This record gives sequence, C-alpha cells and structure tokens, in this order.
Amino acid sequence: MCKCCAELEKTKFAIIGTGSRGSFTWGQEVVKGYSDVVEIVGLCDHNRKRVAAARELIGVNAQTFTDFDQMIKATRPDRVIVTTPDGTHARYIIRAMELGCDVMSEKPLCTDEQQCQAILDAQKKTGKNLTVTFNARHGLKDKKVKELMMQKAIGEVISVDFHEYLDTSHGADYFRRWHRKKENSGTLLCHKASHHFDQANWWLDSMPIEVIARGELKFYGRNNSFRGKNCRTCSHKQNCQFYWDVTKNSRYVKLYTECESEDGYLRDGCVWAEDTNIYDTMSVVVRYENGVTLNYSANTYLPYEGQSISFNGTKGRLDYQDYSGGGFKNDELRLTRSFGKSEVVNITQEQRSGGHGGADGSLHDLIFRGAGKPDPLGLRADFRAGALASLIGIAAYRSIERGGQLIKIKDLVRL
Ligand SMILES: NC(=O)c1ccc[n+]([C@@H]2O[C@H](COP(=O)([O-])OP(=O)(O)OC[C@H]3O[C@@H](n4cnc5c(N)ncnc54)[C@H](O)[C@@H]3O)[C@@H](O)[C@H]2O)c1
Repeated sequence: MCKCCAELEKTKFAIIGTGSRGSFTWGQEVVKGYSDVVEIVGLCDHNRKRVAAARELIGVNAQTFTDFDQMIKATRPDRVIVTTPDGTHARYIIRAMELGCDVMSEKPLCTDEQQCQAILDAQKKTGKNLTVTFNARHGLKDKKVKELMMQKAIGEVISVDFHEYLDTSHGADYFRRWHRKKENSGTLLCHKASHHFDQANWWLDSMPIEVIARGELKFYGRNNSFRGKNCRTCSHKQNCQFYWDVTKNSRYVKLYTECESEDGYLRDGCVWAEDTNIYDTMSVVVRYENGVTLNYSANTYLPYEGQSISFNGTKGRLDYQDYSGGGFKNDELRLTRSFGKSEVVNITQEQRSGGHGGADGSLHDLIFRGAGKPDPLGLRADFRAGALASLIGIAAYRSIERGGQLIKIKDLVRL
C-alpha cells in the first residue's frame, strides 16, 4: 500500500480528559506503538493549561479544545476515548455518539442508574459502537483463568472469593483527589471494583442478578485528629505518614500543579479531608443467574498491595494469588483437583510490555490491531459488559445506603 493510502486509512482518534490516563495510556503510548494506524486529531479538557501540557507530553500537533462539541465538529474523529472523571463519562459518551462517533470509555462506564439508562438508550438510538477499555481482563493470569473456566477445569463453579488489597500508597491516592466524592467516582465500588466485577462477569459468563453490600469509612477522611488542604501547604508535613511531595514527579508538575490556577484541582489533596463520602472498607455479595455467589471485599489502607481470588467448584479449586510486601511474595495460579493433585498452572504466554504488567499493551493491540482477528477468550468488552460491571457497583452502594438491603439489577435499569 502506498504511503498516502495508509494515511487515509488511519483511525482518527480524539481524547476527552487529558489527565494521567488520557495523556499517557491513550496519548503517549498510542503514539509510540500505533502511529501507523491511528492519528490523534483532537485533545479536549476543561482545563486549557492541562490540555496544552498534555499535547506537549504526548508530542503531537493535534488541535486542543476546552469545548467538546467544537472538538468533534472541527476534527471529525472516527473514535473518541473518554478519560474524564467517572461521573462525567456518561455526558461525553452520549454526546460523542450523537455527533456520529464510535466511543471507547475508560472504566467505569457510568456511576449511577440514570446515567446507565441514558447511555443504553443513546446507544440504541444512534447504533454507534461503544466499548469499555477493561484492561484488567488482559493480565496473563487473568486470561489463563478465563481459559480454565472455559475448559471447566474445576467443574461447575459454585462460589468465588475475591479479595482486593490496596496499600497506603495506591489506596491512599484515591482519597487525595476527586475519587473521594461519591458524585465523582460512584465510590470505589464503581471506580475501582468495576474492574473486578467485570472480570467476575466475564470469567463466570453469567448475569449478575442480586447484590447485598456493607461499606464503611474507617480509616481515611474524618478518621484522624489533624488535616490540611493539601500536602504542599500543610502544617502537619512532619508528622503525617501520608505526606506526599507531588513536585518530585516532573510529569505531575506539568499536568497538575502548573495547571491549578484554572480549576483548583489539587493532585496532593489531604487524605483526611472531612468531605470524603466514599468507603475505604467494602464487602459485597453478588448472586448470578447461573447460581454462583461472588464474595467480594476491598480494603484500601493495607501494608501491601494485591489480590487473592479463589474459585470453588464441584471438581476442585483455582487459587489466584498476587500480593507481596514486607519481604514475602505470593504470586501464582494454582489448580487443586478434589481428591487429586495440586499444581501451579504454567503460563506460557509471554508478558507484553506496557502499563499494568503488560495488560494495557495487550488491550491496545486488541483495539488498534485486532480488527477482524479472532477473540477466543472474549476479551472485547461491549457497552453491555460495561453497564453490568457498573451496575454491580451502583447496586452495592445503594445497598449500603439502605442498610444492607438486597438490590436487584433489573430494578435499576431496563437492560
Ligand atoms: N483502566 C485503568 O487501569 C485506569 C487507570 C487510571 C485511570 N483510569 C480511568 O481514567 C479516567 C481518568 O482518570 P485519571 O487518573 O487520568 O484522572 P485525572 O484526574 O488525571 O484526569 C482527568 C482529566 O479530566 C479533566 N476533567 C475533569 N472534569 C472534566 C469535565 N467535566 N470535562 C472535561 N474534562 C474534565 C481534568 O482536567 C483531568 O485532566 C477515570 O475514569 C479513571 O477511572 C483507568
């Protein structure tokens, strides 16, 4: 193919929300690995300084905008990636589809029932292609679990124990900024756990139907005797274990601190902020159409980071362990057959480069080079998968708000 035909066939791509994820994973990484098939034509953010900083970091000549409609009308992208805070995804997803674009949304698709219904209705009306970029499906162990589930390696799954451990760095980071408000993130049950609920839905290949949950704010937020506005200006720097110097990261300085004058977004906000209204301690029970029960927990203030996921089946148990800290390491996928042997599952596939242990790279390959290629594990996540993952999170926080009431997914939206 001649050069000009190749240029013509490039997907025209626009980004709304040029913070960390937008500028790096969907900006720099895409330019680095996929410039032969994708052209970033537009960048938009409500902060004019941040969108300019992002353009420089990404290293493209794309036009920058602070108005979404103007960007779409001026650059006519084929596809838009939505990487704004979670509570604003719905408005951009819907508007992009109305203006004729296909859309990829970062997780979570949405943060409440009304947004979910509006997205489903708009997709139906416009017929546009809407997907959710669930990179957590793309980890090597995660793909292997799907393969073993498809082979029924432990017979019929009866229940799943899924425990998420977030540490005093990663976990705390959600309490420094917009995520700490339910109206922005739909709590970590949408923001973070939508990854895990999507994985569970995908692994189990079934519909979630009922949810019961408990959630508390036991560690961050008001649970401290002192607080400040943000770390840089805080008088408790010396005695706060969560003091964090954002200026040590030159990328963060460009993207955040040098842009504060426009929107007041403090990247190093206080983890003890009294207006925090999400949970740091969560337990959720999900019942699936095929009879499986998922027992999920997430804690966000732990000394180490990781996951422990066990699948309990009629013919055995599959244990997914991935955590380490304080000098120990537990990283394996183990298959134990009832009345039989226990063995570590060998993962032969090579690890891809890219963020999140190569998962982002695998997701990029699927999106930008995967058209027409087989997808035997069903890695592609459509809007329905996105909706169901968000709906478990939404049902969970509604259950918590209502003192542990059982919430039926079908009562939240018309799917
Ligand atoms: N899949 C993953 O592994 C992963 C990892 C990180 C973040 N994410 C997702 O990416 C999204 C962005 O997260 P982030 O960490 O980059 O956040 P961020 O705060 O760094 O970036 C958000 C950007 O959106 C802009 N913005 C805020 N409100 C806006 C509005 N109303 N209109 C236009 N722009 C607006 C901000 O100025 C900022 O530049 C979130 O939905 C998050 O869940 C996914």
